[in-house]
Amino acid sequence: MFQVAIITGAATGIGECMARVFVKHGAKVIVADILDGPGSRVCAELGQDVATFVHCDVTNESDVEAAVNTAISLHGKLDIMVNNAAIAEEPKLSILDNDKAEFERVVAVNLTGAFLGAKHAARAMIPAQCGSIITVGSVCSAVGGVATHSYTSSKHAVVGLTKNVAAELGEYGIRTKLTVDLFKMDYREALRVYSNLKGVALRPEDVADAAVFLGSDDSRYVSGHNLALDGGFTAINPAFGLFAKTKVMD
Ligand SMILES: NC(=O)c1ccc[n+]([C@@H]2O[C@H](COP(=O)([O-])OP(=O)(O)OC[C@H]3O[C@@H](n4cnc5c(N)ncnc54)[C@H](O)[C@@H]3O)[C@@H](O)[C@H]2O)c1
Repeated sequence: MFQVAIITGAATGIGECMARVFVKHGAKVIVADILDGPGSRVCAELGQDVATFVHCDVTNESDVEAAVNTAISLHGKLDIMVNNAAIAEEPKLSILDNDKAEFERVVAVNLTGAFLGAKHAARAMIPAQCGSIITVGSVCSAVGGVATHSYTSSKHAVVGLTKNVAAELGEYGIRTKLTVDLFKMDYREALRVYSNLKGVALRPEDVADAAVFLGSDDSRYVSGHNLALDGGFTAINPAFGLFAKTKVMD
């Protein structure tokens, strides 16, 4: 039996890649995005029998509700909800220049959007007594100083949301997970930081493959988990760098 997945922010970028990889694995996907043109094009390319575009602003509860209703009316169920849609504002190097409305806009998409995704996915998944809710985080879910205050705050907050929702929904067999991927970085800069992963750069397919695993029965005992796809970035403190120093001394 095929899996049914909603992927928010799937008209472009990592979400689009996830939609393509999910379909390759036999899933039916609902591409939920504010970009009607690109979202419809992705679905037309994938085939209308396996991919459906739904206009959905994740900050608007009735849009998210309608996306879940579309999955149910078309396919009779919802197995996987991927809260992928996120935004970041232009970096400003002083907090004094940060604007409250801009901060709230980022939090509304990145955090409130994930909350609404989890809420309406749960509405469909509780009666089915199973399901997987995946939220895409960032290296900014684990460390500070990499991106703006709003982005970092919202990406830390989705870790808490993921754990809390796991605590509540575990009794219904619903699992929640976070995939944490690396923030956009210059390739040479990435190599400098990842001395243990020489020559390896993160691709959207790496995030999509992790989401396939987290959405499948292969991860049936994984819940409330924060899976880092960061080449070890958040596990290593580059300020110390014993092994890098040893190599220089050799
Ligand atoms: N690209 C990276 O290097 C990177 C690094 C760390 C984390 N991430 C995370 O991965 C996810 C995808 O990032 P990306 O790089 O593909 O971003 P992107 O900007 O390329 O795509 C984001 C998608 O979300 C959609 N979107 C924006 N606001 C929306 C809203 N209110 N409702 C519905 N859809 C909305 C956009 O239209 C777009 O299609 C995000 O959660 C992001 O924080 C990305």
